[in-house]
Amino acid sequence: MTDLGFDGRVAVVTGAGGGLGREYALLLASRGARVVVNDTGGSTAGEGTDEGPAESVSREIRDLGGEAAADTHSVATPEGGHAVVRTALDAYGTVDILVNNAGILRDAPFHDMTAELLDPVLDVHLKGAFYVTRPAWDVMRERGYGRVVNTTSAAGLLGTANKSNYGAAKTGLIGLTRVLAAEGSAYGIKVNAVAPIALTRMLTQSMTRTGEQGKTPEREPEREPGRAGQAMTVERMKSFVDKLDPALVAPAVAYLAHEDCPVSGEMYTVGAGHVSRFFVGRTDGYFNPALSMEDVRDHFDEIRDETGYTVPRDPGEETGRLFRTVSG
Ligand code: NAI
Repeated sequence: MTDLGFDGRVAVVTGAGGGLGREYALLLASRGARVVVNDTGGSTAGEGTDEGPAESVSREIRDLGGEAAADTHSVATPEGGHAVVRTALDAYGTVDILVNNAGILRDAPFHDMTAELLDPVLDVHLKGAFYVTRPAWDVMRERGYGRVVNTTSAAGLLGTANKSNYGAAKTGLIGLTRVLAAEGSAYGIKVNAVAPIALTRMLTQSMTRTGEQGKTPEREPEREPGRAGQAMTVERMKSFVDKLDPALVAPAVAYLAHEDCPVSGEMYTVGAGHVSRFFVGRTDGYFNPALSMEDVRDHFDEIRDETGYTVPRDPGEETGRLFRTVSG
């Protein structure tokens, strides 16, 4: 099999001035893509701006012989989203790949959550992906080709304390991913999502706050097999965290951004070189045409039983199953 390349492709990576986004930009550029390195350069909470990170990653790419343009617009407004895509059009004439990766954190327990903590998180993660994808979509749709990779999180998909704002934003991106996959199929556009786990400043901050608050980290490592209920030792936890190199997430993102990507509307969880798929499953369930509340109580185990679950590709397939069950 030949190596996978991106010659002639133009990629926009948001939040690429550090952490995961930098690794995505470096890998795409090293395989021949011309890359727009977008980043506002603010704090993990999204405060302040600094042109340094976007400039420095673009320079790093050029020093390695690649092509890159820095962009420091915020993804968090419609104008910002347009400006990011405009940078790609002005520098390289098109956009083939968009990785919506920019992100911030403003954690608080739900009883302390406020609009001031909610809105910026929704603006950067959820609306930000919307605002950058929207103008990129026009270009991709017209050209009949595009790859979009959104960034979700186990913090939302599986639930983590203190992140109701972030979890809601990240899970909203799943809805966006699936709907855009449905709409994009007619135009050669594939849209997928990754839930990364990597040692970046964001994870470090998450873990520090967690330690301070005695709460779960953004993604809590599994309990050790055979020692149910017992947390990992500090040493094993440290060794695990050291393996969370963001560079080991980039290959999965780059594959989903590649022409050969065989799927659309899917979610992959990626960390430390491990890649697997998250999906929405539907249990076989229980059917009674005269369903009562007591029936639900009495058959709850059957309703929840994961044996023989299915993974509907779209609402039509789900409704089709219901149709067959109900129609006999
Ligand atoms: P990071 O903080 O290093 O990277 C996020 C980047 O986004 C920063 O460079 C920041 O300046 C930039 N950014 C923030 N607001 C922006 C805006 N309005 N416009 C443009 N750029 C902006 O953190 P990390 O870990 O690399 O995060 C990347 C993505 O991965 C985020 O979406 C995050 O939520 C997600 N993620 C990370 C996990 C991890 O384990 N590190 C776990 C799950 C999700």
